[in-house]
Amino acid sequence: MSLFTRKSLADLRQESERSLLLRSLGPLHLTALGIGSIIGTGIFVFTGVAASTAAGPALVLSMIISAVGCAFAGLCYAEFAAMVPVAGSAYTYAYATVGEIFAWIIGWDLILEYALSASTVAVGWSGYFVSFCRDLGLTIPPALTAPRGALVTLANGSTVHGIFNLPAALVVVLVSALLVIGIRQSAGTNTVLVLIKSLVLVFFVALAASYVRRENLTPFIPPNEGHFGAFGWSGVLRGAGIMFFAYIGFDAVSTAAQEAKNPQRDMPIGILGSLAICTVIYIAVATVLLGIVSYKQLNVADPLAVGIDATGLRWFSPVIKISAIFGLFSTMLVQMLAQTRIFYSMSRDGLLPPLFGAIHQRFRTPYLSTIITGTIISVAAGLLPIDLLGQLVSIGTLLAFVLVCIGVILLRRTGPELERPFRTPWVPLVPILGAVICLAQMVGLPIQTWIRLLIWLTVGLVIYFAYSRRKAYGVRFARLTTETES
Ligand code: ALA
Repeated sequence: MSLFTRKSLADLRQESERSLLLRSLGPLHLTALGIGSIIGTGIFVFTGVAASTAAGPALVLSMIISAVGCAFAGLCYAEFAAMVPVAGSAYTYAYATVGEIFAWIIGWDLILEYALSASTVAVGWSGYFVSFCRDLGLTIPPALTAPRGALVTLANGSTVHGIFNLPAALVVVLVSALLVIGIRQSAGTNTVLVLIKSLVLVFFVALAASYVRRENLTPFIPPNEGHFGAFGWSGVLRGAGIMFFAYIGFDAVSTAAQEAKNPQRDMPIGILGSLAICTVIYIAVATVLLGIVSYKQLNVADPLAVGIDATGLRWFSPVIKISAIFGLFSTMLVQMLAQTRIFYSMSRDGLLPPLFGAIHQRFRTPYLSTIITGTIISVAAGLLPIDLLGQLVSIGTLLAFVLVCIGVILLRRTGPELERPFRTPWVPLVPILGAVICLAQMVGLPIQTWIRLLIWLTVGLVIYFAYSRRKAYGVRFARLTTETES
């Protein structure tokens, strides 16, 4: 029962050929899947929070730092995704390269990236939804729009305490139901939603660009307020750590490898293409947003709408809200899809109970896993505040990216002969830069977030040693016996 047992690439390929999942996704679908997962609460909500509390107008720099880190990590993901085209993403790569215990740690860590980020996006969605309902004159009881204990300020200036974020919890239930029905339908819906949200961001830039005022962008880096992360250069780093959340998702493409028609060619296109498109849109949106309104006014649930209101183009504000409502929905769709696919792989390997691998006979989707995961994501969305969720997702994902970057270097040494349909350029420089930039962004995040990450990883290790290790051994043993007999 070695902690470092590895799965051979040949086994992984065989597994992929035996997969029950339907191969229905081409390069456009995959790129849309990436964009669908990337554009979400990060650009629609965190841009305001990060600018007003950490970086000021220099948030644009934070976003460039984050984008560069993601590009390097994305090149590493693309090498693995083309080489190991099976569901499971970084989890599977680690199983093939460094061994079971690391695979478990990454798989466990990826729950933060996918499941918890779906909760985060649901909370961001709820912010725009509640604001839009308010514009229509529909009032949702304020205590049911915020997590327990959070203060909600009413229109008359009084405050109430939140009990549960009901819209956030309910939207997750809806997304789960769609996913149970099936990937074809979900991917098609996703493509339409992706188009809507990308176009609205492009229009935002086009319409608001002429309202940019130099005084809003000066001083570009506001002076530090006396502690780490509150403006100044440390604020730029904190801003990068927060905004990293906005880029998360391009790797979701790799989790759909088993559903791709031609994974070797299309995985790199999907991963790098979606990242490149989103980076260009993001930098443009952030520059324009911070140029049309002072960053000090942006600590709100719907900063893009507040920005556009400041230009006087009020008619565009409901368009932004509607597109956020639909757009963030598609983000959740992809994230939850990715999460269930990772659980599917982990369950096949015995690291999670078999019900996470159960496929619905008619829909051919991992329906039980979707229902269980959906329930947990929904409760988390209802109960937890968005900044806690977002920062925990960022730190967990940054850790996974660091490990993937290191994995590329390791595998070039241990398996130089392996066929690599896509090769990360300039190894080891690119993976090293990727790992260093991601680590720097982790350092920018608050200490409480580090503590939460450590607690999460500790719980994971307890489960591994108490359950998963033994079961995974059993599954490997059973497979070996079957192969020997046949
Ligand atoms: N990148 C995704 C978002 O911003 C997670 O919502």
